Amino acid sequence: MKVYSIKELLSKGKDALQEEVIINGWVRSFRSNQFIALNDGSGQNNVQIVIDYNNFDTDTLKQITTASSLRVEGIVAESKGAGQDIEVIAKTIKIYGYAHPDDVQETILQPKKHSLEKLREQAHLRFRTNTFAAVMRVRNALSFAIHQYFNTNGFCYINTPIITGSDAEGAGEMFTVTNFNLDNLPKNEKGHTDFTQDFFGKKTNLTVSGQLEGETAAMGLGKIYTFGPTFRAENSNTSRHLAEFWMVEPEMAFYDLEQNIDLAEDFLKYCIQYAVDHCKDDLEFLNKRFEEEQKQKPKEEKSEHNLLEKLDFVLSNKFVRLSYTEAIEILKKSKPNQKGKFKYPIEEWGADLQSEHERYLVEKHFKTPVVLFDYPSKIKAFYMRLNDDNKTVRAMDVLFPGIGEIIGGSQREERMDVLKMKMEELNIDEKELWWYLDTRKFGTVPHSGFGLGLERLVLFVTGMGNIRDVIAFPRTPNSAEF
Ligand code: 4AD
Ligand code: MG
Repeated sequence: MKVYSIKELLSKGKDALQEEVIINGWVRSFRSNQFIALNDGSGQNNVQIVIDYNNFDTDTLKQITTASSLRVEGIVAESKGAGQDIEVIAKTIKIYGYAHPDDVQETILQPKKHSLEKLREQAHLRFRTNTFAAVMRVRNALSFAIHQYFNTNGFCYINTPIITGSDAEGAGEMFTVTNFNLDNLPKNEKGHTDFTQDFFGKKTNLTVSGQLEGETAAMGLGKIYTFGPTFRAENSNTSRHLAEFWMVEPEMAFYDLEQNIDLAEDFLKYCIQYAVDHCKDDLEFLNKRFEEEQKQKPKEEKSEHNLLEKLDFVLSNKFVRLSYTEAIEILKKSKPNQKGKFKYPIEEWGADLQSEHERYLVEKHFKTPVVLFDYPSKIKAFYMRLNDDNKTVRAMDVLFPGIGEIIGGSQREERMDVLKMKMEELNIDEKELWWYLDTRKFGTVPHSGFGLGLERLVLFVTGMGNIRDVIAFPRTPNSAEF
């Protein structure tokens, strides 16, 4: 007898008729002492198990409750029920684990609609819900697509360290890593904590980005990417920020900014297309959910398109590319700016763009993904290549509808003297980054790269509204329960 996943069996459909099969899963519902809806997480759809209760002892029947886990041996038969070709007529049922209805009553396993907030409170049980399981399967497909894309395009996958001594983004939003006894910290003459006595003999932190190490690898391997967890202690409690998130960072020797943007656009479209092709059931389910959610929203917040249309729209349109300077002009003249509707009004060139501005450009003005480039050097990281105007750098951000920034990247400053000048300006110690500077000493080359926040991509593709709902165990300020 063959063991099938429910997805496998359902996709076999009528070809499986009369076959004797074994199915494992959790009970979603049990109706009329006769029909069990069983799900094993392999896909959105349940398989219907039909039992003749005369053939089973009451003890077994009593244990078939919502959330309990079963192994069913049975025969595949044609189903008379709507929406399913086949069902399984059970011959024997083994109960792996019983779930008491009183306990289930208290949880999100109870088969009814629960809020996403409630789901978050039971993160350990979320995987059993239709919505979260769909999101996780889409996330899985996107992660696979990311590896596939880079693998087929000649990139070498490398793993950059999680514990580092550097602050790649220079924003100081780091979690310290130490094995000091925090109640008894050793001090130096100046009265500061003496990290020379710490585990690594220096101050270390969780990485905010693998880029700097990624650059060193690209300077030998040509085209690389890293894909791992990154950590930011920024205290921004928003629906787009996590303290622990997954970032994909390709880095390419000999690429200029245009090539970098071309790659980012092609890469994003590949991943979205992959999800559209491989996650049909889940995306249809999420699409319905998205449509339901839109109905509850006030008119001005309603999306013009449903989820599937939004995905298709991104796939079939070329991203608009424009300079920061052009964007500022548009924003200055925009209605919300004139009418004082922006929380951060745009007054002059040099202003840092907030999510409200990014979303205005994408959702209202251009109505398509936008790539902004050539930002003021003052608002960007030290490693970006300085333009001849001496005030902008070769940075680029990809902005998506409903999300804002999904990718941030740049052409890197490959000229040693310019890079050192910039570091001095920002008080970045050359001695700390001697190994990074070395890449500019031994055959420096123009090169570029970018970072994509995996969760922001999953947010976009699944149409979810909060980043906490697209990662299994979200880490945010005051929240690390599971
Ligand atoms: O723009 P960021 O900060 O760029 C870098 O870290 C560069 N070193 C990347 C590179 O050039 N190799 O972050 C890149 C992306 C953002 O566009 C966003 O998608 C995501 O990472 N991101 C976050 N996602 C979730 N929570 C946060 N707190 C995030 N911060 C950034
Ligand atoms: Mg950024």
